[in-house]
Amino acid sequence: MRDRETDEKAVPPLLKIEGISKSFGGIQALYDVSFEVFPETIHAIIGPNGAGKTTLFNIITGVSAPDAGAIRYGPRNIVGKQVHELVAQGIARTFQNVELFGSMSAMENVLVGRHVRTACGFVGAMGRWSWVRTEEEEARQKAMDLLRFVGLDSVAHTRSSDLPFGWQRFLEIARALATEPRVLLLDEPASGLNAVETQRLGELLQEIRGRGVTLLLVEHDMSLTMGVSDRILVLHQGKRLAEGTPREIQEDDAVICAYLGKGI
Ligand SMILES: Nc1ncnc2c1ncn2[C@@H]1O[C@H](COP(=O)(O)OP(=O)(O)OP(=O)(O)O)[C@@H](O)[C@H]1O
Ligand SMILES: [Mg+2]
Repeated sequence: MRDRETDEKAVPPLLKIEGISKSFGGIQALYDVSFEVFPETIHAIIGPNGAGKTTLFNIITGVSAPDAGAIRYGPRNIVGKQVHELVAQGIARTFQNVELFGSMSAMENVLVGRHVRTACGFVGAMGRWSWVRTEEEEARQKAMDLLRFVGLDSVAHTRSSDLPFGWQRFLEIARALATEPRVLLLDEPASGLNAVETQRLGELLQEIRGRGVTLLLVEHDMSLTMGVSDRILVLHQGKRLAEGTPREIQEDDAVICAYLGKGI
């Protein structure tokens, strides 16, 4: 785990979320939310149902635009960029409800993610040129490496909809990693996983961070979150309630009252 004090002095934040607000009709989903995410850390966002966590993910990944505020990714404000532009710039995500191509194999799902990093993509890969074939073979090799990384190489050719639910969550992570992200946002990756899978997920998140990827994690499993996170932002009714290390968050009276309760 990284020492944030040292990080703050040594390296600038990779992401700066500045004063983000978003409303849907009369519902204020986010109100003036600001925080910083440092490179190669796991930064969790927690809070009760409806706190605005997924809304914040949607704004960071270009799915929706905020009413106010900026998202600085390195030197750039990325508000207004499209999803595919942000994926190409290194921002990838998984979804609260798994979103895979059910009729495609696990391998094909990873190749879809991979295709943003290959020159010709799938259409070109159907051509006959030898350099295209080589590129496709390389893509398949890299996809297989990623499937192995998440523990799914033995089911590479199984339809993704035939995989157990927990395995589908791991497959979604592999597909996101295939885009070679600098920042990976995971929306409730432990939801629906059993205890063994959750343990494996925790190890995997730390391995991904170890490969130089910065993670944003929305999660309700507090044991997992407290175990792997470097920093935690707590949202409550669209507002920033607290931000700090797992220990600081667990000892914060407002957080205990609004979300964690006394048992954590
Ligand atoms: N597209 C939308 N249209 C209208 N209201 C929305 C929309 N998206 C989110 N909301 C509302 O915004 C608020 C925040 O929702 P959001 O999905 O961000 O919460 P969350 O923290 O992810 O909750 P959960 O833990 O249940 O996933 C909720 O009141 C929700 O009903
Ligand atoms: Mg959500």
